[in-house]
Amino acid sequence: MNKQSLLALAQCLLATSVLAHPPVLSVPTSERVIGGTAAAPDSFPSAVSLEVLTPDGVGLCGGVLVNNHTVVTAAHCVYNFDTNTDIPAANMHVGYGSNSKKNQTFVPVHTVHVHYRFDAEQMTNDLAILTIDPVAYSASVRPATIYSGLLENGTKLTAVGWGLTIPGGNWASLPDKLQETEIVIGTPEECRKLVPTYETSNGPQVCTQNSLRPGSDTCQGDSGTGVYINVGGENYVVGVTSFGAAPNGDPTCALNDGLAIYTHLYYYLPYINEYAGTTVTGPAHRTHANRRHRHNGPGRRRPRNRHPSAE
Ligand SMILES: *[C@@H]1O[C@H](CO)[C@@H](O)[C@H](O)[C@H]1NC(C)=O
Ligand SMILES: *[C@@H]1O[C@H](CO)[C@@H](O)[C@H](O)[C@H]1NC(C)=O
Ligand SMILES: *[C@@H]1O[C@H](CO)[C@@H](O)[C@H](O)[C@H]1NC(C)=O
Repeated sequence: MNKQSLLALAQCLLATSVLAHPPVLSVPTSERVIGGTAAAPDSFPSAVSLEVLTPDGVGLCGGVLVNNHTVVTAAHCVYNFDTNTDIPAANMHVGYGSNSKKNQTFVPVHTVHVHYRFDAEQMTNDLAILTIDPVAYSASVRPATIYSGLLENGTKLTAVGWGLTIPGGNWASLPDKLQETEIVIGTPEECRKLVPTYETSNGPQVCTQNSLRPGSDTCQGDSGTGVYINVGGENYVVGVTSFGAAPNGDPTCALNDGLAIYTHLYYYLPYINEYAGTTVTGPAHRTHANRRHRHNGPGRRRPRNRHPSAE
């Protein structure tokens, strides 16, 4: 399958831009974070940037802070496709604390856990957990709450990322500021054109359909960064950016018949909590809000497909 991962490899003086392996491909001329605008300061305090030294160059990705020492990202961002092994933690760092990359604090990564069933060819289970030293929370640093509600066709989501904004693979033009754009969950018929086994976005993968929001898409450099849903004025994280393509395999971002796939975090909650310890899910039903129900310790399972209002 010709699937276009949304990892970007930046060319720099020390790294070649030769890209030996799919799904990491060169940057087609029209690719960018499509239809995006700079996010307001502190609007996504769980968004982090991630730079990874890969055999092919410096990979640009993002991630989501889910507690004070854990970042979730896409497996393909931290995977060595030459050796089929995880890239060592020493080859990467995480930037947090600002929408502006140049204002971020960059810290080392201590451990990398690529999902044990990550399939680099099919791009399934595209999820990895990174640990960092505990960060202090502030207006611009806060963990995301993992959305536990039902996802339906037509649901609007907001994707964010530091991926390309200017066509032509001009790496000097990577945005300094986090970009956000609206995307819409697709119909099963359309989504199966990209992932034949797709049933709904309540399974392992959330699928968005470009034709439902023309001119808007994620693109190279956005991999691993969060896609969020806004409920009652709060952003909850739904997934992390994985890959996208048109049904004919054309990897160009934002084609009108294009589709994109996001790893669904709530589906993987037991796995995430196994490495993260405690994360928070929500939203809880307002009138029954109960702290105990909003925390999920390791091994504590919650139903996946429950609508928050049905709690
Ligand atoms: C970066 O930090 C400086 C100093 O705190 C601040 O003046 C500036 O507005 C910040 N820039 C952005 C884009 O956040
Ligand atoms: C990080 O979170 C843990 C668990 O909630 C807490 O015990 C610890 O004090 C936190 N560390 C910082 C630096 O806030
Ligand atoms: C989702 O899409 C399917 C197929 O197009 C349709 O049958 C179903 O009614 C849709 N559901 C919603 C909630 O739109």
